[in-house]
Amino acid sequence: MPDTLSITDNRTGKKYEIPVEHDAIKALELRKIKVKEDDFGLMTYDPALMNTASVKSRITFIDGDKGILRYRGYPIEQLAEKCTSFLEVAYLILAGDLPAKNQLEQWRQNVKLHTFVHENIKKLMEGFRYDAHPMGMFISTIAALSTFYPEAKEVMNQDVRQKQIFRLIGKVPTIAAFTFRHTKGMPYNYPDNELTYAGNFLSMMFKIGESYKVNPVLEHALTVLFILHADHEQNCSANVMRSVGSSHIDPYSACAAAAAALWGPLHGGANEAVLQMLDEIGSMQNVPSFIKSVKDGKGRLMGFGHRVYKNYDPRAKVIKRLAYEVFEVTGKNPNLEIALELERIALEDEYFVKRKLYPNVDFYSGLIYQAMGFPMDFFPVLFAIPRTAGWLAQWQEHILDPEQKISRPRQIYLGPSERNWLPIEKRP
Ligand code: ACO
Repeated sequence: MPDTLSITDNRTGKKYEIPVEHDAIKALELRKIKVKEDDFGLMTYDPALMNTASVKSRITFIDGDKGILRYRGYPIEQLAEKCTSFLEVAYLILAGDLPAKNQLEQWRQNVKLHTFVHENIKKLMEGFRYDAHPMGMFISTIAALSTFYPEAKEVMNQDVRQKQIFRLIGKVPTIAAFTFRHTKGMPYNYPDNELTYAGNFLSMMFKIGESYKVNPVLEHALTVLFILHADHEQNCSANVMRSVGSSHIDPYSACAAAAAALWGPLHGGANEAVLQMLDEIGSMQNVPSFIKSVKDGKGRLMGFGHRVYKNYDPRAKVIKRLAYEVFEVTGKNPNLEIALELERIALEDEYFVKRKLYPNVDFYSGLIYQAMGFPMDFFPVLFAIPRTAGWLAQWQEHILDPEQKISRPRQIYLGPSERNWLPIEKRP
């Protein structure tokens, strides 16, 4: 059987054979389909790109029906369990394979060389108001980095590109921690390059005086959370990174745009909504009436459902186990029991089962972050730190792909046709 699609245009009776490759047709093939020779040709209309593959990628694979997530072929469960550092996974995502021992050591060294920020970046951050949102500060500061490294605009130069990758992965935890210290009115802690990626971040966040010791359980938990959030194929912020990067702007500006997309409540903000929902429910006995109100259409069960996963989000399974390890150290988050009861009821309830609504990554992550002492408005920043590795991998793949060009979708124009300008006194 040929790998083609036969189309008959009933407007003209003409037939077309369109090649099918990787279960997709090239949208440009449809342009041959015309009624008149000078027609523009047929387009597809796909708001929110629900059924359009805009890239060929070798980075992350998701099968939402089966609940599968893999980075470069490796199942997320294995990476979360076996990788001892986030940088190992960042290397995997960016370089395409797990590093050998010497490669990992070199990669670590390179990133560590770039953990400090220019003192003027610190001064710039000091200029934000005391109550500035940490994500607003984070986005602006990432964008400002482009002014410190003007050579970054040479995006087709491999060495230059690689250096900005080291810089961004090295600096995002520092900038993130500075935003937190700023909101607390506390002096910024400089990086400690003797510590791991997650350990150094915790130290920059919470160290007061010299006696702070990173708790190994919390360091491990944060490493796993970073691994789980490192990439998620063509989500909203990855798509922004690619689209902005396709104009060949420097990666700092593109990362700032991607981080802005991540900040939106429909993307990176759901774990905060979960905590607000749990607070609202307040106690175990209110769970059944809350579930009933959701089924009656009065709001959603936050942290449930996903555009892609129509099965248990594999990241949620790992996070649920991790929650117990963290609570051993921090004490139980009082909302955990409400969350467990919500999950138990929802997984048995026909309404949720029929609609394939399962816990997603955000259902438990907020509880852990809160127990670890991170404020709610800091959650999107915690997401952006590891996702920077994913954004950079998506960006690099995009600009090196010979099939790609500057991103520029088409539109279906429904506005007025040509009309003549009228002087103001003659306008209706
Ligand atoms: N609670 C109750 N009902 C729900 C929920 C939910 N969380 N999610 C979907 N539904 C219902 C819808 O009402 C709809 O029912 P209907 O067929 O009777 O109208 C059906 O399930 C399908 O819902 P859609 O909105 O079409 O599903 P979609 O794939 O567009 O939405 C989304 C996915 C936005 C994640 C949705 O499930 C949701 O709002 N969940 C809560 C918010 C959340 O947790 N977001 C985090 C996602 S993970 C991340 O971004 C990192």
